[in-house]
Amino acid sequence: MSENTEPQLAVVILAAGQGTRMKSTLPKVLHRIGGRPLLGHVLATARGLQPENLLVVVRHERDMVVGAVLEDAPDVIVVDQDEVPGTGRAVEMAIARVPDFTGDVLVLSGDVPLLDDETLAGLIRTHRRSGAAATLLSAVVGDASGYGRVIRDAGGGVQRIVEQKDATDEEAAVSEINAGVYVFQAAALRAHISLVGTANAQGERYLTDVVALMRDSRLSVGVSQATDAAAALGVNDRVQLSEAARLLNARTVRRWQLEGATILDPATTWIDVTANLALDVTVLPNTHILRATTVAEGATVGPDTSLVDCEVGPRATVTRADATLAVIGAGATVGPFAYLRPGTYLGERGKIGTFVETKNSTIGERSKVPHLSYIGDTTIGTGVNLGAGAITANYDDIAKHRTEIGDEVHSGSHNVFVAPVRIGAGAKTGAGAVIRKDVPAGALALSVAPQRNVEGWVETNRPGTAAADAAAGARSAQKADDGAQEEDG
Ligand code: UD1
Ligand code: CA
Repeated sequence: MSENTEPQLAVVILAAGQGTRMKSTLPKVLHRIGGRPLLGHVLATARGLQPENLLVVVRHERDMVVGAVLEDAPDVIVVDQDEVPGTGRAVEMAIARVPDFTGDVLVLSGDVPLLDDETLAGLIRTHRRSGAAATLLSAVVGDASGYGRVIRDAGGGVQRIVEQKDATDEEAAVSEINAGVYVFQAAALRAHISLVGTANAQGERYLTDVVALMRDSRLSVGVSQATDAAAALGVNDRVQLSEAARLLNARTVRRWQLEGATILDPATTWIDVTANLALDVTVLPNTHILRATTVAEGATVGPDTSLVDCEVGPRATVTRADATLAVIGAGATVGPFAYLRPGTYLGERGKIGTFVETKNSTIGERSKVPHLSYIGDTTIGTGVNLGAGAITANYDDIAKHRTEIGDEVHSGSHNVFVAPVRIGAGAKTGAGAVIRKDVPAGALALSVAPQRNVEGWVETNRPGTAAADAAAGARSAQKADDGAQEEDG
C-alpha cells in the first residue's frame, strides 16, 4: 500500500545564533537543564522521530557546538551558516545540503528544549492530514514578550508571523506565539526561502517571513496549537533558562512518582533526565539526583543530599550527603553529613557515618566508618569497625599510598594510618595509635607512650589559679574521705 506511505522526514535544528541575551561565553544552546545541554534535549527529541536526515546549523562557537553534537549524535549533518544572519538563511543553507530530499522538513530551534514527543507528533499529524505547504506550532501564553506573534486573517487562517520588534501595539497584544517549530513540504520551502528579504528591525533573513510568502502564493499554512505552553518555551536569557529547568524537572519528578517513587517535595528535588529511580524509592526534600545516578528499590535518599553519577543499592539510606562517582551497597547507610568522593565503594550493610570523607576506597560488607574520619586510597575488608577519628595519611607530599585493612579489624579511637601500611585480619589498635608499621593478623598495635602522672604539678607550678584551688579542694576532700574510711575500719 505504497500510497499510504508517509513522506520522508528531514529535521533541521537551528543552533547557529550567538545567544546574546544569555550574556555568556558559553554558546546558548550548550547551557544545561536537567543534566543536558539545551541542544541535547532537542537532538534527543529529533532522533526519536528517526528522520531520514538530521541536520544541525552552526556558526557561533562552531567547534564547541559541533563537539557537543557529535558526542550525542555522530550521524548528524553539520551545516555551517555563512555570515548572512537570520533563521531564514540558516534553513536555506540546511536544505541546500540535501538537494534531492522531497519529503517533509521539520525545523526545530536549539533553544526550545521542552518540546515533547506528543506535541511534536500532533504537529506532524496536523500537517500531513491537512496537506498544507507549511504548519507551524503555536502556543497561547500569558507573557508573549520576545516571541513572534501569530497574526490570523478574518477566516482564522494564519496570515503571517510578526516579530516583537516589528510589531504594532495591536499585533504585540496578540497572545498566540510562534514556537519556532515548523513542518514544511520540502518543495514549497525551497521555492519560498530564497525570496525572504531583510526588511525588518534586525536586518536579518527571518524564516518566519516564509509564512506570508507562501500565503501570497496561495498556498495553505496551518497551525497546531500546543496544549502545554511549556513545550513552546524558548530560552533566550537566564531567567527563561531557570524556568525551563524548573518545568523540565517538574516533568521528571512527576514521571518518577508515577513509576512508583515517593518524592516528598517536588519543588526542592532535582532529578536529571539521565538518572534512574526504582520502585519504592523515597526522596526527601532538598535532594539532587544527577547525571547517571541510579537509586535501587526501597532506598531512601535525602534530605539535603546531592548524588552525581552514583549507584545507590537496594534499601540503602543516604542522609545529608554529597557523593560523586560512589557505589553504595544494599542496605548500607551513609551520613548524616558525609562526603563521598570518586571511587568510593561501600559494601552491603556497610556504614559511612557522620562527618566522614572517603575517596578512592573500598569499604567491605558490614564494615563501618561511623564518625569523624578521612579514608582515602584504602581497602577495608569485611566486618571492620574503625573507631571515631580514623585518618588515613595517604599522601607523603610526593605520592599517594594505599592503606589495607583486613577483615574483622577493630581500631581504637583517633588512629592515624600512615600509608603505605597493612593491618592484618582480626587485628586491634589502641586509642590514639599512629600506625606506621604493618600490623600482623590478630595483633594488638599500640604506639602511644604509657601515661605518666606528675602528682601535685598544678599546685606547684600554677599556684593561686582556679585549677590549683579546685585541685587542692579535691585533694583535701579525698583525704577526709580516706580518714573516715580508716576510722570505720
Ligand atoms: C525566533 C522566531 C520567533 C519565535 C521564537 C521562538 C524568527 C525570526 N523568530 O525568535 O518568531 O517566536 O524564535 O522561540 O525566526 N539561529 C540560527 N541562525 C541565525 C539566527 C538564529 O541558527 O542566524 C538559531 C538560534 O541559535 C536559535 C534559533 O535559531 O536556536 C532561534 O533564534 P533566536 O535568535 O533565539 O530567535 P528568537 O528571537 O527567539
Ligand atoms: Ca529564541
